[in-house]
Amino acid sequence: MSSKRIAVTLVSAIGLVLPVAAQDLPDGPGKPVFEKMCTQCHGVEGIVREKLTKDRWTAIVDDMVSRGAKGTDEEVDQVINYLAANFGRKVNVNKATTSDLTAMGLTPDEAQAVIKYRVEKGSVKDFDDLSKVPGLATAKLAGLKPRVEF
Ligand code: HEC
Repeated sequence: MSSKRIAVTLVSAIGLVLPVAAQDLPDGPGKPVFEKMCTQCHGVEGIVREKLTKDRWTAIVDDMVSRGAKGTDEEVDQVINYLAANFGRKVNVNKATTSDLTAMGLTPDEAQAVIKYRVEKGSVKDFDDLSKVPGLATAKLAGLKPRVEF
């Protein structure tokens, strides 16, 4: 009876503690892989405190792989994209290079179109302005909103 009670208490304590950190993580493709690959040696809190560019996230994930984090090349890419998308530094559309823009998920053509628009109009003033860039897929715009500044 008492050992059963201890077991129940333990189970509920673990049940309460573990999902909390996971719940704080934003949903997105790559979240399950991130949780699988990056929580074996340390918690996620120290990881997601940071806001980093995709290049920095790539370097960190590569470093973790060399320390023993396990995943296929595809999983590694998914984790990098998940981190860059959710814990990325905002990109200033008026200063971004082509590779800054492609790191956010634009195709090279779309990145070129943004830069061309910026040069022709003097600047991209705001999000409305960005949505006028010819050839920039509307479906991508919503996802960019939290990640860009002007
Ligand atoms: C095999 C164990 C292991 C796994 C799996 C692992 N890490 Fe780490 N991680 C470490 C160790 C050890 C440190 C401490 C490194 C140090 O202090 O120099 C660390 C530190 C870090 C840091 C802080 C230090 C820094 O370099 O900025 C970040 C961020 C980080 N890990 C991210 C990740 C991510 C993202 C993943 C999943 C891809 C991951 N870790 C998976 C072992 C691991």
